Amino acid sequence: MRRIKLPAHIALIMDGNGRWAKRRFRPRSYGHRMGVQNMVRICSHAFRLGVRIVTVYALSTENLFRPKEELDTLFDLIRTYFSKKKDKLLEMGVKINVIGDLSVFPADIRENILRVMDETRSLTDGLFNICLDYGSRQEIVRAVNAAVAQGRFVDEASFSALLQTGGLPDPDLIIRTGGEVRLSNFLLYQAAYSELYFSNKMWPEFSKRDLEKAIENYSARDRRFGNVEEED
Ligand code: FPP
Repeated sequence: MRRIKLPAHIALIMDGNGRWAKRRFRPRSYGHRMGVQNMVRICSHAFRLGVRIVTVYALSTENLFRPKEELDTLFDLIRTYFSKKKDKLLEMGVKINVIGDLSVFPADIRENILRVMDETRSLTDGLFNICLDYGSRQEIVRAVNAAVAQGRFVDEASFSALLQTGGLPDPDLIIRTGGEVRLSNFLLYQAAYSELYFSNKMWPEFSKRDLEKAIENYSARDRRFGNVEEED
């Protein structure tokens, strides 16, 4: 890659697993399995390039309404991912953090998630956020209720701190694969000034080079945060 401005925080909407599998006459479960493999490949590449934080939308609150058979597959993939002892991302010294409501998961998955979070707590080479049973509107409503319960007014900073991403810098770049052009209830508050990048590739086929192209595209953008460009 030529000299570029790296986003410190990339968020990924990994869409298109089902369609990718269907086009290959395979079940959706195969698409999700390949999707997890690609998640590890692409996220470790992002850290290797120097990105500090990667946040993935692995399971939305709305995804929980999918047919039981598909949910079983997704839960199994999550179970396997968090029970594995070794992972490229763990080997890279990345801290793993889960954002979302864990109560939907069976106890064994919950325990493994908490164990991985605990074991990687002190790692500092990067932060990998996995959003599970996450919904941004629900997150915002919960934060409002928390402020009301505490009987206090909030400002932008204190409100951000009440979100499930509290303490994290906002994503600089949000990438969505799968050809859809929307945020689908992902990081709505945090995305206020994020650069958005949409790829027509399905998630399992989104390559390391595609990630680099997205970063190059980001790098060429002029981020003004509502301000005007400074004159030379
Ligand atoms: C969207 O594809 C993807 C999902 C609903 C889940 C994807 C999740 C992973 C790849 C990672 C799971 C995470 C861990 C930690 C194991 P889709 O099924 O909506 O695709 P479609 O739009 O083609 O139907």
